Amino acid sequence: MDLFEYQARDLFESYGVPVLAGIIADSPAEAQAAAEKIGGTVVVKAQVKAGGRGKAGGVKVVHTPEDAFAAASAILGLDIKGHTVKRVMVAAGARIAQEFYFSVLLDRANRSYLSLCSVEGGMEIEELAVERPDALARIEIDPGAGVDLAKATEIAIAGGFPAELVDKVAPVLVKLYEVYKGEDATLVEVNPLVLTEDGDIVALDGKVSLDENAGFRHPAHAELEDAEAADPLEAKAKLHDLNYVKLDGEVGIIGNGAGLVMSTLDVVAYAGERHGGVKPANFLDIGGGASAEVMAAGLDVILGDEQVKSVFVNVFGGITACDAVANGIVGALEVLGDAASKPLVVRLDGNKVEEGRAILVAAAHPLVTLATTMDEGADKAAELASK
Ligand SMILES: Nc1ncnc2c1ncn2[C@@H]1O[C@H](COP(=O)(O)OP(=O)(O)OP(=O)(O)O)[C@@H](O)[C@H]1O
Ligand SMILES: [Mg+2]
Repeated sequence: MDLFEYQARDLFESYGVPVLAGIIADSPAEAQAAAEKIGGTVVVKAQVKAGGRGKAGGVKVVHTPEDAFAAASAILGLDIKGHTVKRVMVAAGARIAQEFYFSVLLDRANRSYLSLCSVEGGMEIEELAVERPDALARIEIDPGAGVDLAKATEIAIAGGFPAELVDKVAPVLVKLYEVYKGEDATLVEVNPLVLTEDGDIVALDGKVSLDENAGFRHPAHAELEDAEAADPLEAKAKLHDLNYVKLDGEVGIIGNGAGLVMSTLDVVAYAGERHGGVKPANFLDIGGGASAEVMAAGLDVILGDEQVKSVFVNVFGGITACDAVANGIVGALEVLGDAASKPLVVRLDGNKVEEGRAILVAAAHPLVTLATTMDEGADKAAELASK
């Protein structure tokens, strides 16, 4: 989950990272009031989860509350890389002497953490990374050891900081790492981290991504979610603790085990090519216990997707045997009643497959077709979706 800049700012503040005053505003009038409250020069900043806001006209320095009103009028409603600006942050203006770049992120390929650091930060960092990659230091961080003052000093020196700045900036890098570690983030990026004319180090921007798999350790993270932006079907699935991802196609997919569901998506996509180009409509892994409740919740979410024309249930019975799954399907169709309105192709295999099939045959539900193999099931479901 990506955070808005103002949320990152608040998080930074709670960890003792130096930041400037910032007030959120949803309208030009609120921005004007915020500018009055902060006083002096302020910066009106678009709050969207996209980079390059400054270059898109989403960051404006103003000197009076009236100008803050005008800046907010211009920024609110702006489209920045497909994101409409609905909010701005009015931040105290810094007198910048120098802009730096620092980030720490999860380096999946190396099963490690990585820190990027440069004394030459600011809005041209992407160009710097391409044109003079040596000016952007890449320092591995041992996740077990983390970033203490010595490591932060090593990072700052590698980033090109002169000796007199290293001692100033290193403690801030330690705090930023504490945010990364303490919040189970996968990214903490500050661009720019600045030196002010008064000689202070301040984080003027913040990008934070949180690891949702660690959400159970952070009840407070739930409040950071942007409920407005969430896909309604994904929100509903989350409510039921289902691993669901909405895709663009017409064939709803239910399977057990992430690997089986992934290959089901592939097989359905291939089969779809023979049937007018239909595609999988979603990823849904109902996991181990495929009870009637879980099956009903899964079907309910998938059938709520207007794009879905057919559903392919592909289950390999293991610890949860096929008879339990079959009972789950029959039970789910009963629970859903008229809400179940689209054809279902069911392929069962594995533990107690004969018993499972017998249960579905006996139920003889008009919407259910049985398939013996995964390919056959995918083909049938794609064919039904193309009609
Ligand atoms: N509080 C502030 N006071 C003075 N100048 C600021 C302030 N905030 C930002 N700036 C200036 O505006 C520039 C762009 O701001 P910021 O980094 O927040 O946006 P951005 O980098 O364009 O957006 P993104 O990081 O999403 O690409 C900064 O590099 C800095 O020069
Ligand atoms: Mg920035």
